[in-house]
Amino acid sequence: DVKNPNKHHKHHRLHALLIPYPFQGHVNPFVHLAIKLASQGITVTFVNTHYNHHQINSGDIFAGVRSESGLDIRYATVSDGLPLGFDRSLNHDQYQSALLHVFSAHVEELVESLVGEGVNVMIADTFFVWPSVVARKFGLVCVSFWTEAALVFSLYYHMDLLRIHGHFGAQETRRDLIDYIPGVEAINPKDTASYLQETDISSVVHQIIFKAFEDVKKVDFVLCNTIHQFESKTIHALNSKIPFYAIGPIIPFNLKTGSSVTTSLWSESDCTQWLNTKPAGSVLYISFGSYAHVTKKDLVEIAHGISLSRVNFVWVVRPDIVSSDETNPLPAGFESEAGDRGIVIPWCCQMTVLSHPSIGGFLTHCGWNSILESIWCEVPLLCFPLLTDQVTNRKLVVDDWKIGMNLCEDRGFVGRDEVKMSIGRLMRGESREGVRGAIGRVKMSLEGALKCRGSSGENLGLFVDGLVAKVG
Ligand code: UDX
Repeated sequence: DVKNPNKHHKHHRLHALLIPYPFQGHVNPFVHLAIKLASQGITVTFVNTHYNHHQINSGDIFAGVRSESGLDIRYATVSDGLPLGFDRSLNHDQYQSALLHVFSAHVEELVESLVGEGVNVMIADTFFVWPSVVARKFGLVCVSFWTEAALVFSLYYHMDLLRIHGHFGAQETRRDLIDYIPGVEAINPKDTASYLQETDISSVVHQIIFKAFEDVKKVDFVLCNTIHQFESKTIHALNSKIPFYAIGPIIPFNLKTGSSVTTSLWSESDCTQWLNTKPAGSVLYISFGSYAHVTKKDLVEIAHGISLSRVNFVWVVRPDIVSSDETNPLPAGFESEAGDRGIVIPWCCQMTVLSHPSIGGFLTHCGWNSILESIWCEVPLLCFPLLTDQVTNRKLVVDDWKIGMNLCEDRGFVGRDEVKMSIGRLMRGESREGVRGAIGRVKMSLEGALKCRGSSGENLGLFVDGLVAKVG
């Protein structure tokens, strides 16, 4: 109960520094983790980069929560190592490189300045390569927060095993099932994270993953934005190696309290009025998240498929969606042809859109946050994974939980006719009811996990007890 923190135990001696990887899909769950921890009576200092602070443009993002709910959430900013004017969206490699090589020095300076304020716990994103080193240097308990599925964590955690068996890191990798990762059912290599399928493993992102998963082996606790019921065997196996707590779903589902925290890095278009004019369940929401680029060819095929399907739609087309300076990569006349049937916007408050009754389906790149948010709003998914964990998330959604369908059967080929057919299947096909039933059941698991006696509630309690024991 965020509104009444006094109802909760006070852990006065705990003061946690939260440091998200500075991408939208990481900042969002970190912000809501901060609120969750502060609601447990923990003092929290949340760290945003100068750049993200500037993008969000709202001063201290927790000011509303603090005044409404009295939570002790402080706010600090730090340089990511690049000038503010640097275009991070179109230069992913340089951005990641700065985060790999330069960011930790800035973080160290910040931590040094905050230790005097009683900070005794550091909760940093698993994708950072330095948390255990920095935490040790300043005598802090070190917690790693993994914002994705436990399955993806486990695949990265066991990268060495994949290498030994020839499923990763060789010029010619094996294509048969991977059936030796503890707690992971046999998985097709094509369903592993995209970075584990690449043969050139010298990229900046690979260096980050290699170092980050060395570092995470030395932390005190791992928190994961999943629930026990989704991935019990995987979590159980990980727990035999590292204290691993599933405390999800961490999503901005409480719009009432969440509304006082703005986390969007881009300004949001409000399409509620437009959605109000559409019949229930008639609108397809389309978004490919905050980071991934789509090829122009695929984007054009998807646009034609949407036109041919004749469904109502809201499409978030980020200005950098095709990784070039092209201002409007959509086919000429796409929006005017759609008329009142659809709108194209650069960004929105996704939870507000997904929870609108007119939304009947979500064509998604399968970002983990998008999946959790869609389940929460009981919106069936149409999956178009682009990179990283999205590929594995697709398997969970379509093959395991059956709460969504594939946009295209062959990921390498996107054709307008297939796009049209799969949109039709999702929005009005016979299989829709089965998917809706499944998503309703999965939503109930999420709700159950969050209850006081639910698995995530209990895990959070155990984690906090563990912190108290460590801090002494
Ligand atoms: C990426 C990975 O794909 C994801 O799996 C990982 O957990 C984090 O990094 P991203 O591509 O941004 O994230 O996707 P996603 O995880 O879905 O996160 C996007 C976030 O931005 C969601 O919380 C979503 O609500 C929000 N969003 C997206 C908006 O608020 N408005 C939009 O228009 C689009």
